[in-house]
Amino acid sequence: MKKIVVIGSCNTDMVIKVAHLPLPGETIIGHDFMTNQGGKGANQAVAVARMGGETLFIARLGDDGFGRQSLSLLNEEGIDTRFVTLTKETPTGVALIPVDEKGENSIIVASGANALLSENDVNAAQTEICQAKILLMQLETPVQTLSCAAEMAHQHGVTVILNPAPFPEKSLPAELLRNVDLIILNETEAAAMSGVEVKDADSALQAIRRIRELGVKQVIITAGGSGAYTEEKGKLIHVPAFNAEVIDTTAAGDTFCGALCVALSRNYEYSEAISIANKAASISVTRMGAWRSIPFAAEVFGK
Ligand code: RIB
Repeated sequence: MKKIVVIGSCNTDMVIKVAHLPLPGETIIGHDFMTNQGGKGANQAVAVARMGGETLFIARLGDDGFGRQSLSLLNEEGIDTRFVTLTKETPTGVALIPVDEKGENSIIVASGANALLSENDVNAAQTEICQAKILLMQLETPVQTLSCAAEMAHQHGVTVILNPAPFPEKSLPAELLRNVDLIILNETEAAAMSGVEVKDADSALQAIRRIRELGVKQVIITAGGSGAYTEEKGKLIHVPAFNAEVIDTTAAGDTFCGALCVALSRNYEYSEAISIANKAASISVTRMGAWRSIPFAAEVFGK
């Protein structure tokens, strides 16, 4: 089986349950503090691995307690971590995450070692990237590094998938987009990228078409409880969400991306692959935390 290579961030998440997300200048008393493994890149790598995909992760961690703990847990997930480097220069990335009673969150990331992920890290894993089935990336690590990896992968016929989260203030560079086969974004990111407010099927199709005009071949817009949209053969495809009791939406998008990659690597059609990814995401929102909420294949396929 060919590998799914994930390049990206690995954070330690500090989560506090709150009645409501704090307003600017407001101090609130929360409850249920927990420290969990997270980071969009690591979440996606864990989602791939738990869905049964052969996973290689490329990342930078600090050479500290958080970094060593994350590395050890990535290994326990069966992920190939030969290209996860511990660096003494900066600490491991951390994220502060209040989660409200509706399961919504806001996230502040201190990038730490994630910001040091470089073209050298990509070059070191060149053989693995060029032989992969899929390269999956997000935007919590430097964009030049991702552009370098995307170009390398694209030249060798590897499917390049980008989840542009967090969406940058500046637009995404053309040298990255031209090597992306599939972009997976939520409604907010799709609006930022296309200039179209995504509120229903018609606006989703309009946004997908604008994003395709930027050079990306395939677009999937995730819309939480409304499911997900894509376009195939000129027609909008809407894949409904699964009902779920939402406890915490952290890493739901990452779970979607990881599960989707595994389904696509097994040659599922887009609509089926999106439905599998919707199912995986719907399970993740019923549990607190990032890695700890990500389901295993047996839960998603019911075997
Ligand atoms: O997508 C959720 C993730 O965003 C969290 O795990 C946090 O670490 C941030 O990277």
